[in-house]
Amino acid sequence: MKIRKAVIPVAGLGTRFLPYTKAIPKEMLPIIDIPAIHFIVKEAIDSGIESILFVTSKEKYSIEDYFDRNFYLEYFLNKNKNKEALDQLKRVPENVNIFSVRQKEALGLGHAILQAADFVGNESFAVFLPDDLIFSKVPVMKKMIEIYESKCDAVVAVEAVAREKISSYGIIKPQKMEERVYRVLDMAEKPPLKKAFSNLAIVGRYVLPSTVFDYIRNTKPGAKGEIQLTDALSALMTEHGLLAHEFEGVRCDTGDKFEYILAILKYASMQPALKAKLKKAIKKIF
Ligand code: G1P
Repeated sequence: MKIRKAVIPVAGLGTRFLPYTKAIPKEMLPIIDIPAIHFIVKEAIDSGIESILFVTSKEKYSIEDYFDRNFYLEYFLNKNKNKEALDQLKRVPENVNIFSVRQKEALGLGHAILQAADFVGNESFAVFLPDDLIFSKVPVMKKMIEIYESKCDAVVAVEAVAREKISSYGIIKPQKMEERVYRVLDMAEKPPLKKAFSNLAIVGRYVLPSTVFDYIRNTKPGAKGEIQLTDALSALMTEHGLLAHEFEGVRCDTGDKFEYILAILKYASMQPALKAKLKKAIKKIF
C-alpha cells in the first residue's frame, strides 16, 4: 500500500522554550530563515507524502498560515517588482494538501495521533514528530517507507543515545535483521536506565498501519500519566510485528537549546556564503 498521508502532532506547549513559546509555537522556531516545521514538511514531501494532517491546539494558527499563500504580501512584492523577495516566498512547499484537527486536551502523544483516525481511514500512514529535525542525504521517512513496503510491518526510526538520555525516550529491545534494520522484541516509554533494554531510542518518525488506532483506544495512561504511543505500539508489536530502522544522518532535538543551536549551525554549514564567515566568527567568540 502506498503511503500517501502523514500526521504531524503540533499541539505541544513547548515548555522547554519558554518564554518564547508563550506567544509563538515551538514548531515556528527559526532555523535561520525558515521555521523548523518547514524541514519536516519538506522531508514528508520528499518521501512521497501527498497530504498532511497537523494535530494542532489553540494559538497555533501561524503554522497553517505559513503553508498558506499570503496574497497581500505577494501583491505588494509584485507591485514593487521585488523578485528576490518573491523567490524567497516560493521556498515554502506548496505541493501538498494541508489539513488540521484540534487536540482539545493535552493527554499525550497516543491521544494526539488518535485525532487523526478519520483523516487516515484504512490506509497506512507516516508520523513525524516535529521536534526531531534530521539532516540526511536520503530523507529518513523515504527509507522507512521502503522498508515498510518490502516487509509489511510497522517501522519506527531509532538512534543510539548516550546513557544519560535513555530515560527521555521510548527504548526498544532490538534483534538485528539486516544492516540498520531490527525486529523490535520489546519496548518501553522513558524507562529508568537500569531497566532499559538497550540504548536504541525511538526518534520521531513512524510508519504505522491504521489498526494502530484500535491499540491506542485500548491504551491506559502510562509514563507521565499520558496515553503513550509507545505503549500502543508495544501491543501492536506482539500481534503484528514491528521493525526499527537505525537511520543515517544527524538528528537535532529542536526542543533542546543546545541541539537547537546545532540545527542552526548544521543548516548554516550547508550554505557556503554563511559557512566561511561563521567559522571565523565562532572562533572569535569562543
Ligand atoms: C516522544 C515519544 C518517545 C520518543 C520521542 C522522540 O516523546 O513518546 O517514545 O522517543 O518522542 O523524540 P516526547 O519527546 O514527546 O516526550
